[in-house]
Amino acid sequence: MALISIIAVVVVVAVVSFINYLNNSKKNQLPAGVQRLPGPKGYPILGSVPDVPDKNSFLKFHEWGQQYGPIYQVNLAGHNHVWITRDSVAQEILGKRAANNSERPFIPSLQADNRNSGHYLPLMSRNELWTRQRKFAKQIMDKSSANAFYNYPELESVRLLFELMTDPSRYNHALESFISRVTCRLGWGTAAPSDELKQRARELLIGVSPNGALTNKLGFLKKLPEAIVPAKAWEFRRYRTESRFFTILQNEVREKLKSKTAPESWMRHFLENKTATGFASDLEGAYAVGMHGIAGALTIAAPMQSFCLAMCHHPQYQSILHEEIDRVCGDRLPKLSDMPDMPVLRAFIRETLRWRPPVPTGIPHESVKDDIYEGYLIPAGSVMHPLEWSISRDPEVFPEPDAFNPMRWLETKYPTYQEPLTKYPTITQYSQFGYGRRICAGMGVAEADLFVGIGSLAWMFSLSASDAEAEKAAELPKEPVPSSLPVHKEAKKATSLPSGIQTPPSETEIEEQLDEHFSEKMLPADTSMLSRKKTVKKPKSLESGGGLSRAKTVTYKLRLPGSSLPGQFPAFFEQHTGPDTPPSSPKARTAMAGTPDMPAVDNMFNSAADEKASKPDPTLEYSSLLIAKPLPFKFNMKIRNKKKAEYVAREWMFYKMDGEFEDSKCYWEGGNAGNKMYGWGEVHK
Ligand code: HEM
Repeated sequence: MALISIIAVVVVVAVVSFINYLNNSKKNQLPAGVQRLPGPKGYPILGSVPDVPDKNSFLKFHEWGQQYGPIYQVNLAGHNHVWITRDSVAQEILGKRAANNSERPFIPSLQADNRNSGHYLPLMSRNELWTRQRKFAKQIMDKSSANAFYNYPELESVRLLFELMTDPSRYNHALESFISRVTCRLGWGTAAPSDELKQRARELLIGVSPNGALTNKLGFLKKLPEAIVPAKAWEFRRYRTESRFFTILQNEVREKLKSKTAPESWMRHFLENKTATGFASDLEGAYAVGMHGIAGALTIAAPMQSFCLAMCHHPQYQSILHEEIDRVCGDRLPKLSDMPDMPVLRAFIRETLRWRPPVPTGIPHESVKDDIYEGYLIPAGSVMHPLEWSISRDPEVFPEPDAFNPMRWLETKYPTYQEPLTKYPTITQYSQFGYGRRICAGMGVAEADLFVGIGSLAWMFSLSASDAEAEKAAELPKEPVPSSLPVHKEAKKATSLPSGIQTPPSETEIEEQLDEHFSEKMLPADTSMLSRKKTVKKPKSLESGGGLSRAKTVTYKLRLPGSSLPGQFPAFFEQHTGPDTPPSSPKARTAMAGTPDMPAVDNMFNSAADEKASKPDPTLEYSSLLIAKPLPFKFNMKIRNKKKAEYVAREWMFYKMDGEFEDSKCYWEGGNAGNKMYGWGEVHK
């Protein structure tokens, strides 16, 4: 029976691909004097599908770019895909010729048509819905950016550090939650939907990734009944849950508006300006906000983890970053207004995005009409990919492109150096955020989150490879340690840059420091609970924030979770970074199995190319969906000095007492795994 089914599937795939092939052959008749783009020949019917590995497919496309040049085409099961590996070519085709190249390809797996349902702004056709939602996106981004994102990133950075201090084994959860909580506050004025938003993002990511949902590989399965295609049933539930979730959140904000308790948020902006948006329904508004939430939830968490990976494998730069952070911030956490004074931190962030692009294959555009580029035909309907992995590895722009080297943004000898250092390097207007009319709407949020998030991590911790990771690092080629950082005129005006690398303190030195400062002042060593009567005030760093609640007097008992001694912080954290603790119920465990928090599980469509692949670079152990995120790895995370730990604990306590740090909420009857209608689907990547 199984054999018959497999044969039937193969026959249907072959017939569908053959029809596509014939159609495309007709379409691809060449005008005089025009050539076909170069590219791999592929196989009959399937084209180059068998040559593209499921894992890190961007490496294969990069390799083809080196072989065929900055623009080449690949036939994938009868569809023409054009890959662009140089920024200048992408600027020309996707930027200057945007009128022809700003469509989005159809995504077969989704229940609601990505092009015209009005649900998924990043995936829509360029129609009326896209125009008005793009306008709305600009309004909410401009407004929140002008208000420093209501200080939500700074507020949540306290919780991030506190969670890392007290339960470092859940680093993955803490980093992803930081981004998701900030995004939820921006979206709906509350961090409570954070876990649900992450899951919505994971599931949508599977739905839209070419190597995610099965129905994206075998589109014809969508035409078969749900009962015999589990992928279709999975998508129906995902879609129902997504709509319900966005509607619940919209209603919550509506209720808070009535009682005048709604904090600043994008949804609040929508509800207060509904008529002006021109949206067809409240549901359109629910999705317009929800999609910004989803777009922000996982994209930014990926570079935060890549930063940790970079610090383990390229430790020689970390002290430069610490020097700048300590000089500018001293005893308080970094905040958004420090940005002009911190070119080194910006350089680390920009280099992280370049070194490990969060969307390595780019988000594809689609061409409308035939086009000729330098004598080559780009047929109408081609799927156009700006291959971010290659674009950020152009050796003329980025010498030694595979090396993580933040100095390339800070030293005049590199082609990427740009002044004034009060502004550059910056991650906005950068290829990683796409091209032309479809350029990312959330660059400002990404910049703010990464600046405050990575800045806070580096302010608090020294990151280093665990023994296992250090062994892997030893296999990589060694890079030179910069002897000093030059001081530029512009930088001097803003801030004096570090004069050279400083030796990081040894473990014993830090331990001594910690012992010296350790916390009789603040934490009673002999009790598991900290009981205090305290007038809670907003710390100065957050006073300008519009989204925070008022000071009040409360009695609060604090238990410090995960500490070696209740009520104390462990002096050092061996940060072992396995997956998050799975949910306790068996049903929930099934629902969570194989989420991107977990090690990837085998996929039935892993091609033979996977097996053949040589031993992978240890810094390339990435999830294989559209957004690339490092798989869990082990590293050490040491608190740099005790004062910082005390500061964070104090701030955390103030906010907790003030009711700021709500726990994540479950929205489904029956727990996250939910019921037949709504809940978390299984995630296999
Ligand atoms: C590091 C973080 C991020 C990266 C690397 C990233 C990258 C991208 C890329 C490559 C595109 C497609 C551009 C194109 O088609 O040429 C895109 C589109 C988009 N992004 Fe982002 N993004 C990030 C964060 C965010 C955030 C935080 C938001 C919102 C809060 C957001 C909202 C959007 C939207 C709405 C679009 C669709 C634009 C359109 O199709 O018209 N992104 N992003």
